[in-house]
Amino acid sequence: MSSPESSEANGESKPVGIAETEHVSVMPNEIVQWVREIHPTTIIDGTYGAGGHTRLLADVLASSDDTPAIQPRVIAIDRDPAVVRRDEQKPWIEDNPKIELFLGSYESAPKALDALELTHADALVLDLGLSSDQLADRHRGFTFTIDDAELDLRFDPENGVPAYRWLQQHSEKEIADAIYQFGEERFSRRIAKQIVLRAREKNPVTKVGDLVEICRRCVPRSRNHDIHPATRTFQALRIAVNDELGGLTRTLASAPDWIAPGGRVAIISFHSLEDRIVKNAFRDDPRWEVLTRKPLRPTDEEVEANPRSRSAKLRVATRVE
Ligand SMILES: C[S@@+](CC[C@H](N)C(=O)[O-])C[C@H]1O[C@@H](n2cnc3c(N)ncnc32)[C@H](O)[C@@H]1O
Repeated sequence: MSSPESSEANGESKPVGIAETEHVSVMPNEIVQWVREIHPTTIIDGTYGAGGHTRLLADVLASSDDTPAIQPRVIAIDRDPAVVRRDEQKPWIEDNPKIELFLGSYESAPKALDALELTHADALVLDLGLSSDQLADRHRGFTFTIDDAELDLRFDPENGVPAYRWLQQHSEKEIADAIYQFGEERFSRRIAKQIVLRAREKNPVTKVGDLVEICRRCVPRSRNHDIHPATRTFQALRIAVNDELGGLTRTLASAPDWIAPGGRVAIISFHSLEDRIVKNAFRDDPRWEVLTRKPLRPTDEEVEANPRSRSAKLRVATRVE
């Protein structure tokens, strides 16, 4: 059974509006260590978020004296326009030749390389899921404390369809299957039935509170009250609306074409479906050599300091020569 991604998504987080630096990077020392070892010139941070990993990775770049032909750079990518707009004019990005920030999915990493007249990167880092800053944004639907927020759940609200419309466009069975598959929610059928019933009664689910209320009615409180009854359903819808597993699968399939031989891919995931995709992709493609036989976990000290890290798993592979 996958663990739901974040205890903060269970409605306990403070609704504080879009934050600047609330997000604490997960497994920063491990990421730095695995990437530093290969003396990289070009690193792709495919999930920029609050920029924590990007800043650390900028410090592990090879010096430009060692590689006069190539400007050492971290290519930072995020799919969320609010994240990129918030930071693109910050001096430490705008005036820093070592960091290039792009708006888009990490799937489009080859396009970002192309824009910089590069063909390969030495490293790719992905830290999947959503940042604490996004969770704190009252208008996205990520946190379910804000009943009247629109049920959107997109990383990129300028593309695709919001979750409430996704629900209107799919059948009861498709909704139930998504909630079961991506959220591993045992009561998926009951929830899907109630969602479709509301739509039939001309009172469709459009707000966060509508879906929370359905989940409360359909999911018995777990015995130890560890997670909110809506956690798994919201996680599932977010994964479906953003095609998160599809994007990860396609990126791992294409990455051997644009990661340089000897280069490394380091991926932090937060639930078992993502981790399985990473594990299988590394195992099944002979162009990868797995460097972490078992996923690495954050230290007890890190989990204590940053509870969001507790379900993180890090896998690393190298592109064989
Ligand atoms: C957990 S946060 C990353 C935090 C970051 N590593 C740090 O240290 O601050 C995940 C970020 O990935 C972004 N994201 C999710 N899916 C993405 C995708 N397919 N392509 C690019 N960015 C994505 C989200 O918008 C979010 O900002």
